[in-house]
Amino acid sequence: MPFFFPWTVGSPGEIRLRLMQYHWAQRAEMSPAAWSLETTVRFDGEIVGCQSISTRDYLVTRTGETGSWLGMKHHGRGIGTLMRQALCAFMFDHLDAAEVTSAAFVDNPASLAVSRKVGYRENGIGRLKRRDGEMVLNQKLVLTADTLNRAEPELKVEGALQLRDFLGLNGRDQ
Ligand SMILES: CC(C)(COP(=O)(O)OP(=O)(O)OC[C@H]1O[C@@H](n2cnc3c(N)ncnc32)[C@H](O)[C@@H]1OP(=O)(O)O)[C@@H](O)C(=O)NCCC(=O)NCCS
Repeated sequence: MPFFFPWTVGSPGEIRLRLMQYHWAQRAEMSPAAWSLETTVRFDGEIVGCQSISTRDYLVTRTGETGSWLGMKHHGRGIGTLMRQALCAFMFDHLDAAEVTSAAFVDNPASLAVSRKVGYRENGIGRLKRRDGEMVLNQKLVLTADTLNRAEPELKVEGALQLRDFLGLNGRDQ
């Protein structure tokens, strides 16, 4: 259970419903004051996972926290690194981020390896509840544009201007 929210707890039907309700809620609540951009990850045309960034007061703070998952059969092929590189490059190049943060439980070597490869640096350790009665140490991480290891080839982006407008980044809502 590598998540701050216990996504993986429950029957397959419960997990499916919770996943859909989460995504519907994120879309419904998106505003310049608080937003979560949940991007679909496709590999060879198949939907394989999700790469997100969540923030509030972004117009002032210019920071957001990444989160990600891939279906288990897609782990370990470099997709997790590519999708994080893509979203972080998008944040710095198109949404004017000053930094991007992440965090992973200390017993999640794959997520920590991705963060290390992408260029995040360690930013303290916190204590969280993972399950009832179980504490877990949470490694916090931070990335700035100067240490981002970019993927090849260069990121191609469409629709960024409309998203900037929606998020208040073109001045209208500031
Ligand atoms: C985290 C996640 C998205 C990474 O995706 P991925 O495609 O498997 O990642 P990559 O293949 O790009 O890289 C994984 C790295 O972790 C390393 N790794 C994986 N398991 C490891 C282990 N048990 N010990 C040490 N390193 C490990 C791999 O060697 C690889 O590093 P390398 O390229 O230097 O060899 C994926 O594992 C996942 O969905 N996990 C479950 C959800 C999750 O943990 N989300 C993050 C919550 S904070």
